[in-house]
Amino acid sequence: MLEFSNFEMTDLSLEKQIEWWKAIVHSINDGVLVIDHLGIVRLVNPEYLKITGCTPAMIGKPLKESRPGALLPETLIDQKTRVGVYRKTGDREYVVDMAPITVNNQIIGAVSICKSLTEVHKLNQELKQKGEKLEQLQKKMNSLYQANYTFKQIIGKNRGLKEAVHVAERVAETDLSILITGESGTGKELFAQAIHNESRRKNQPFVPVNCAAIPPSLLESELFGYGDGAFTNAKKGGKIGLFEMANNGTIFLDEIGDMSYDLQAKLLRVLQESKIRRVGETNERRIVVRIIAATHRDLQQLVKKNRFREDLLYRLNVINLHIPPLRERKEDIPELVDSILQSSVTNLELEHVPADYTVDEQTLAFLQSYEWPGNVRELKNMIDYASCMVEGTAIKIEHLPEILTKNRVVSPSLQVNSVDKPLQQAMEEAEKNFIQETIKRFGTGIEEKKKVANALGISLATLYNKLKRHHIDF
Ligand SMILES: Nc1ncnc2c1ncn2[C@@H]1O[C@H](COP(=O)(O)OP(=O)(O)O)[C@@H](O)[C@H]1O
Ligand SMILES: [Mg+2]
Repeated sequence: MLEFSNFEMTDLSLEKQIEWWKAIVHSINDGVLVIDHLGIVRLVNPEYLKITGCTPAMIGKPLKESRPGALLPETLIDQKTRVGVYRKTGDREYVVDMAPITVNNQIIGAVSICKSLTEVHKLNQELKQKGEKLEQLQKKMNSLYQANYTFKQIIGKNRGLKEAVHVAERVAETDLSILITGESGTGKELFAQAIHNESRRKNQPFVPVNCAAIPPSLLESELFGYGDGAFTNAKKGGKIGLFEMANNGTIFLDEIGDMSYDLQAKLLRVLQESKIRRVGETNERRIVVRIIAATHRDLQQLVKKNRFREDLLYRLNVINLHIPPLRERKEDIPELVDSILQSSVTNLELEHVPADYTVDEQTLAFLQSYEWPGNVRELKNMIDYASCMVEGTAIKIEHLPEILTKNRVVSPSLQVNSVDKPLQQAMEEAEKNFIQETIKRFGTGIEEKKKVANALGISLATLYNKLKRHHIDF
């Protein structure tokens, strides 16, 4: 109960005092109506008229006259307080609180306070729209961060591969950190997705991060997000990081061996404390994520060279899965080719490729003799290429990219007897092939030429000379 101290009021004339009280009632943001003990309206404020649509003409008259359904006069009789009574007149909706006014245990009137629901409705509507938008974004995010592969899609009977699948299946359901090692294109991400889809986190996000593809200066804020005004050009309101995106799900830290030494320390802290701090913020946010890391690098070697933190390695390498390179499991090539052809028929919608295609003996023998530096990814690219080239039912050597089949023809063992200087010839051919491979990797163009020269460790001028000598168009 509020007590007013009257020290100032006593200094005022009665008239002034009434004016003062009136001003207070008028400035209240809710509707106020007061009746006296006879049920006559004595006071209304502008908000009341606005909410209910009544007019000032009601003042001085019985409330029942202007509002036949009014409940307030009943308050005079039963002396009860009523809270949150819903009222609707026309399209006006509001809720009313009613209370008797007593002085020295005598009822002298009753007061009604009403709040419009129109505003509440409006807010409710806005909230609903925002909720729908949020749901849409959530759906979009879930579809963006979704793992597609399952263990069923991992093809291979090779012992090493089977062993990796076996361990992966066993640890999928746990929350143990996993480090997947293996050359590029061996299926590391495929394994990570399959593990996620087999875990109880499968309906939560799977967020892949390629630590080698994001510039080191940006990686921290990508991973952990940043606060409002963390740096120039920062988005207003800050930005959520990938760790937060992955909350309750799995984060896949691909090419972890390429992460900077400094950031490794921060990552380790996050893993140990399950808390992240956005760049430029001081408060921490709790994050529950499963970590799967992958690399094609030898992390033990990097530890020796002080380029990878030993403590982080132990934290990530709770379970190690090693995926053998394709050249060590050539027995799996026929089945991989089959499955890739099936999916490329559906993916590329190649109507001219019949479902009962064949890959002839010679081609298969070639595929099994090739070393596959790019592993299954390279095989997949090659088969996809061949399935575009084939016209009949049989995929033959000539449908494969020339660059690879040429490799086969110029392989030194095949050339040994046909030239005078077999080693030099083989080296020349190897150099040509290597340059062509590198060009393939970077593309053609001025900038690309510089990159190629750089990658080969030669000057641009030397590169031009070699291109000329080998008759390579570039
Ligand atoms: N054992 C496998 N069975 C079927 N497809 C595979 C297998 N290993 C790799 N792939 C396919 O090869 C491609 C490269 O795999 P990916 O997981 O991205 O390799 P990595 O992450 O090791 O570079 C993907 O299209 C993947 O589906
Ligand atoms: Mg990968």
